[in-house]
Amino acid sequence: MPAYAILGAQWGDEGKGKIIDYLSRRADIVARFSGGNNAGHTVINDLGDFSLHLVPCGIFSDGVMNVIGNGVVVDPDVLIEEMETLKQGGIDVSRSLMVSERAHLIMPYHVMLDTLAERERGDFAIGTTGKGIGPAYSDKTSRTGIRAADLLDLEGLRHRLEEVLPFVNRVLTKVYEVDSVSIDYILDKSRMWKDFLGPLIKPVGRYVNEVLDSGGTVVLEGAQGILLDLDHGTYPFVTSSSPTIGGASTGLAIQPKQITNVLGIFKAYNTRVGSGPFPTELFDDVGEGIRTIAKEFGTTTGRARRVGWFDGVLASYSNRINGYTSAVITRLDVLDHLDSLNICVGYKLDGDILDEPPGGVAALEKCSPVYETLDGWDVPTAGISNISELPTNARVYVDRLEELIGCPVDIISTGPHRDHTIMVRDILIS
Ligand code: IMP
Repeated sequence: MPAYAILGAQWGDEGKGKIIDYLSRRADIVARFSGGNNAGHTVINDLGDFSLHLVPCGIFSDGVMNVIGNGVVVDPDVLIEEMETLKQGGIDVSRSLMVSERAHLIMPYHVMLDTLAERERGDFAIGTTGKGIGPAYSDKTSRTGIRAADLLDLEGLRHRLEEVLPFVNRVLTKVYEVDSVSIDYILDKSRMWKDFLGPLIKPVGRYVNEVLDSGGTVVLEGAQGILLDLDHGTYPFVTSSSPTIGGASTGLAIQPKQITNVLGIFKAYNTRVGSGPFPTELFDDVGEGIRTIAKEFGTTTGRARRVGWFDGVLASYSNRINGYTSAVITRLDVLDHLDSLNICVGYKLDGDILDEPPGGVAALEKCSPVYETLDGWDVPTAGISNISELPTNARVYVDRLEELIGCPVDIISTGPHRDHTIMVRDILIS
């Protein structure tokens, strides 16, 4: 019953899509457990280049069922559009996709509220993706959300909307002074969503458990990263879900003991999109060079990602929370051009040296990184798939990351394609 959790170990965008695609060739199920279409997973394989926002990355592998779990928030319009795009690319999604009946839906008013709230925050804006993620999760915890199952009973949905929409409309019209949203507008959309998505809405928790119980293999597809976690991230500059190991269990209704392998996906450097503290951020030509070479622009919003040195303090913290059984280092090739590299091994704060990030965002903003400098490598790593070919200094760099993370580096990614992968230790599902 192996279940592999693939978790973002930094601020998201670590290259999880490629690793999930790689592993899913031997999986029975690939299941998303958190976030929504704020995520953008890039997959490049024999079928082409794809950006997935909601559909799990196992969609390209034959015989794999793809599951959108209860912990995900689903914008039905986005899901339908993504399914249509995949269909045009020759990939028929309809028979290999399921949506949990318990997943909450992102309604058009959630998208409006996200944008309006960000505008209201002014200089204190979080820099959200504007996809309605926060408002949808807020409604979930306020017990005023709409779930996928509600689409299957449109009369019941009408009653539900009669209950929740008046308050939403008071906020829209009185607080933000914009137009209200009508029940008929939402119901018309819901009818269309039901026609399209109705057959996919299922009790997926039970299905995933049955596959695990019968010895099947499940890949749990994380979105975002631990430093954007609502509890363990750099609050309030976080997303509204739990991209951590706990979220993998609650977001799919599987037991923690069923998760046999926990893979922490780390970029060989750090990036972040949106506002919030970033102790190792680079503001110079080195940062600009990395951004340009690595095309560090958001898959979902197109925004330039902030770039910085690898942060060993946050990496060790990430491992403490998630308990990785394997670390994966991605985008090592991006650093090929550098003569020397810094790694953050501690934080200086008010005369003390810290080996854990402080919980408060103001204190983290005040931390300055303590760096160790390593030599760059003279032979490029791009495209290498055998560990014996890795230049010595690149090996030294990865070994140091391994020490700081505190868990073995089992996979190194040296390029976007499936083949550009070094399997240091074979952890693949047999
Ligand atoms: P939200 O998830 O749209 O509410 O955005 C909250 C914060 O999380 C913002 O700083 C976003 O830039 C960031 N964020 C959300 N999703 C991702 C992602 O998939 N990759 C990187 N950053 C993300």
